[in-house]
Amino acid sequence: MAVDEGELRRAERIVREAERVVVLTGAGISAESGIPTFRGPEGLWRQYRPEELATPEAFARDPRLVWEWYDWRRQRIAACHPNAAHLALARSMLRRGGIHILTQNVDALHSRAAVQAAGEGDASAAMPLKLHGSIFRARCVECDKRTPLYDDIDTQSVERLPRCQECGGLLRPDVVWFGESLDRAILERAFQLAGEADVCVIIGTSGLVQPTASLPGVTQSGGGRIIEINPEPTPLTAMADLSLRSGAASAAPRLFGGPKLSGPLR
Ligand code: OAD
Repeated sequence: MAVDEGELRRAERIVREAERVVVLTGAGISAESGIPTFRGPEGLWRQYRPEELATPEAFARDPRLVWEWYDWRRQRIAACHPNAAHLALARSMLRRGGIHILTQNVDALHSRAAVQAAGEGDASAAMPLKLHGSIFRARCVECDKRTPLYDDIDTQSVERLPRCQECGGLLRPDVVWFGESLDRAILERAFQLAGEADVCVIIGTSGLVQPTASLPGVTQSGGGRIIEINPEPTPLTAMADLSLRSGAASAAPRLFGGPKLSGPLR
């Protein structure tokens, strides 16, 4: 999958010269970390039915089954590591201002890359805006309280599923499911950032899930440019000024490279 060197250089220059950059990421950015995408040949939605596992109705019907699936994914994700794309983005954000990641991913790899890139320093400038929540957080179905959740889940019976420490209600994964709305404040912030951006770099998303798939159009309407990094064409390709047919781990470091931060990568 050879990417035209001239296109890469053009993309790199657009990003370098932009004052404000949004990076919209999807499951494809984590593919080279070993995390399955949703719609690829071995994608999760080829093997599992979303309506049985990723809807509020599914959770109400069989919370044990839903937790079992999420716990399997959590364990799988926990064994993976941020790849060169996550790390290049995180380092770039720490080095210069004006870059924001808007991610659909719930795998926390952007956050882990931020912590890794910051070393002993402050990682907050490299944290993403999580549009679809996090698989390492839970939310009470009764009182809505959110809580970090890193431990393995005991999914042997409904009685053993995790409970809210405030009110005793059942906890659910703090992710956005099909049929649910995105958090309003997060969505407003995402649209604001997309509207202000000089360039939107789309990495590894099929562009099929709304409202996120509308964000590049907001950048374009505001006069900004669109760069897509994806080995396959998507519905967003037609609007892109530049399409880099490449995996994220090789192309993203070219766009977000630049001088390395001091200190070894951990
Ligand atoms: P998809 O699985 O729909 O799309 C993944 C995209 O990544 C595809 O366009 C692939 O071509 C591309 N891709 C594969 N390998 C890549 C690589 N190495 N580098 C770059 N790109 C690569 O995943 P999303 O678009 O993230 O929502 O899916 C959006 C939402 O639909 C998810 O957040 C999830 C899903 O259902 C919910 O669970 C609610």
